[in-house]
Amino acid sequence: PDTGKLAGKRVVITAGPTREPIDPVRYISNHSSGKMGYALAVAARDAGASVVLVSGPVNLPAPAGVEVRDVVTAEDMLKATCRAVDEGCDLFIATAAVADYRPENLASDKIKKSSEAMALSLVRNPDTLATIAARPDAPFTVGFAAETSDVARYARDKMQRKNLRMIVANDVSVPGMGFNSDQNTVTVFWPGGQESIGPASKTAIAVRLVTLIGNHLEQE
Ligand code: PMT
Repeated sequence: PDTGKLAGKRVVITAGPTREPIDPVRYISNHSSGKMGYALAVAARDAGASVVLVSGPVNLPAPAGVEVRDVVTAEDMLKATCRAVDEGCDLFIATAAVADYRPENLASDKIKKSSEAMALSLVRNPDTLATIAARPDAPFTVGFAAETSDVARYARDKMQRKNLRMIVANDVSVPGMGFNSDQNTVTVFWPGGQESIGPASKTAIAVRLVTLIGNHLEQE
């Protein structure tokens, strides 16, 4: 509807895990299902936005009316997101659980087992969220932070360090919350305020997040 909080806004969202190949049959990844990011894409669409969803490999159908761009690795995610932001973006939300490291070398053949132990050399991946937030033409940028301890401190620190307008902190140490669950419980921080949402379904959390973000965008 063109009367929603995000009417006419262009929104880019990252979702899901990334996969970092080791050899033709193996990869490093994590337990992100994409549910939180897909729920946000639907909530933003329902609030009137046009939405590009840059998605790692997940088992979720593309939401109607949302443009899904599939990626596999963290490097793909950075490229696809930069391209989507270049096309025009008022709001960027990073929900993806991006692999911080990738194997330094991709073996062209399946690695055979031989010795009892083996070492895998890893190198840092590019940070999509930090890259977008650092652009001179940065959109209103919202990050997520999955933490297992000292959630508020790490989240506020990440918000400042990465130059974000808001950060959604996820205590993933709470059983049944966060990764792969249908439920979540989060605390949103912005300079000068905070709000806790949940425990609730990711759908309900996404609707409240979009309302909060919309209110902040309106005040710009
Ligand atoms: O996908 P689900 O199963 O629904 O689970 C949802 C979730 C738990 C994955 C989600 O709610 C969440 O918390 N996402 C962030 C997970 C995370 O790994 O956070 P982080 O603290 O590593 O990263 C901080 C922020 O930087 C995130 O916004 C992340 O998308 C972004 N980032 C991180 C590294 C990187 N190389 N590029 C990034 O863009």
